[in-house]
Amino acid sequence: MISIPEEVLNLLQHSRFPVAFTGAGISVESGIPPFRGPGGIWNKYDPEILDISYFLKYPEESWKQIRKMFYEVIEKARPNPAHYALAEMENQGRLKGIITQNIDNLHQKAGNKKVVEYHGNTRDVVCLECGKKYPLLQISFEQLPPRCPQCGGLLKPDFVFFGEPIPADAALQAEEWMKNTDLLLVIGTSGVVVPASLLPYTAKQYGAKIVEVNLYPSEYTNRISDYFLQGKASEILPALI
Ligand code: APR
Repeated sequence: MISIPEEVLNLLQHSRFPVAFTGAGISVESGIPPFRGPGGIWNKYDPEILDISYFLKYPEESWKQIRKMFYEVIEKARPNPAHYALAEMENQGRLKGIITQNIDNLHQKAGNKKVVEYHGNTRDVVCLECGKKYPLLQISFEQLPPRCPQCGGLLKPDFVFFGEPIPADAALQAEEWMKNTDLLLVIGTSGVVVPASLLPYTAKQYGAKIVEVNLYPSEYTNRISDYFLQGKASEILPALI
């Protein structure tokens, strides 16, 4: 049985503006491998595949890899108890929102409404010529790379590649929540990819308490985490909520 320190339960109980910041670790038990650490995607694939300059140079190859790396895995994935715990917390009016680095749409599938997708999502694709967005499921992959039905332009997954900016609305909303939160749950993230990984430091600067949930220590653990709940998110979060 997971034991949660009394102070953490108190913090949760009395928090005025709790926010969650999630990374790949929260979806590992939904069958989606993390990027780093044991079983990490970057142990098998070269991160260059997700670099925007590589995509523009080799769109066909990039699409082939991305479909294997993400789409095949994500379409089979279902929310796990960690996702449902955060949805329950929002239902109880005790979670102001989630900022996720994940592109797997599992927070929304679990029922959360207030989700900032800091790295975009895999639900849609966007035309690099005319900017039109299409649901991924509408696009045929007979020919690679997929082309815009409207203008024939190159279609790109609607998630943020390395070298691309964070969507402005996501960045603004995340910044605002980091300046207002008094309790930030940092869940399943190694804290190494900027600018996303800087968000918890902003929350700390503005006086938030940081409760970290991770299987292993992260960049945050000995720097800004006030509490480090070590273990699987799918066991710890239900115990927290
Ligand atoms: N429960 C909780 N934490 C877990 C679990 C689990 N079951 N399994 C793994 N973890 C933790 C790992 O210890 C690690 O700290 O989840 C974290 C996963 O780290 P990363 O794979 O680096 O994922 P993330 O931090 O989300 O990566 C950030 O990097 O490649 C880019 O854009 C990509 O959004 C991603 C960004």
